[in-house]
Amino acid sequence: MCPPDFFGVSYVINPWMEGQQGHTDAAEAQAQWTGLKDLIARHADVSLIMPHAGLPDLVFTANAGLALEGKVLLSRFRRPQRRGEEHWWRAWFEKAGYEIITPPEELCFEGAGDALFDEARQTIWLGHGFRSDQEMAPLAAKIFGRETVPLRLIDPRFYHLDTCFCPLPDGALLYYPAAFDAPSRAEIERRVAPDQRIAVDESDAIKFCCNAVALDAMLVLNDASPALEAQARAHGLAPTRAPLTQFMKAGGAAKCLTLRI
Ligand code: ARG
Repeated sequence: MCPPDFFGVSYVINPWMEGQQGHTDAAEAQAQWTGLKDLIARHADVSLIMPHAGLPDLVFTANAGLALEGKVLLSRFRRPQRRGEEHWWRAWFEKAGYEIITPPEELCFEGAGDALFDEARQTIWLGHGFRSDQEMAPLAAKIFGRETVPLRLIDPRFYHLDTCFCPLPDGALLYYPAAFDAPSRAEIERRVAPDQRIAVDESDAIKFCCNAVALDAMLVLNDASPALEAQARAHGLAPTRAPLTQFMKAGGAAKCLTLRI
């Protein structure tokens, strides 16, 4: 995770950021981020990367890269506003002793914002259409030796896969179907059995409930309806709220603010 010392909205690169420039509250952002970190720390060891002035989205550590088994496939950001982060992510992973792999120069890839490792299926789901390039899917498959399933995103509000899709430890899936094109939706439905699919409606999706972190039986999310909470409980998960409204102004919530390493 990355402390939000320099977090704010100073440019617009997704629909959530529109009209939010300069409208974040630094004290509330710190408090919300600390609330999330304390919850995560109950179930995992938390490592931090140093925040840097001028890089307000560095808090969204999900976008550093995809890290799996000592290897990291680093991100190459689509938007120039975030390219300055790449140096710091590389430095962090080098120091941590990871084998570093960089995407080919002509391709964009936004790390675990778009590439989600599904523990239960041992596959990687890769979102494309807004930030990452579809061509990254075969590359990720080769690098990590895991089948990689490309999914096309079509709703600009759900521009990263982790904003609308969350594989859960027992093989269940939280997702917002309308964020995907028809072939991708069919692919999801082919691979995930009906009783394992938790389709969320738009009102839950825009609360970033798919941007959840599942650790042991805890499911950390910004907010969720009672109906969705009941569905999570039926899958053996304890929904736990971490309000992250300040970060939603930048287009992210719980999952975006973390990277599993
Ligand atoms: N403002 C950031 C961007 O648009 C938010 C990133 C959220 N991260 C995520 N993994 N969804 O890039």
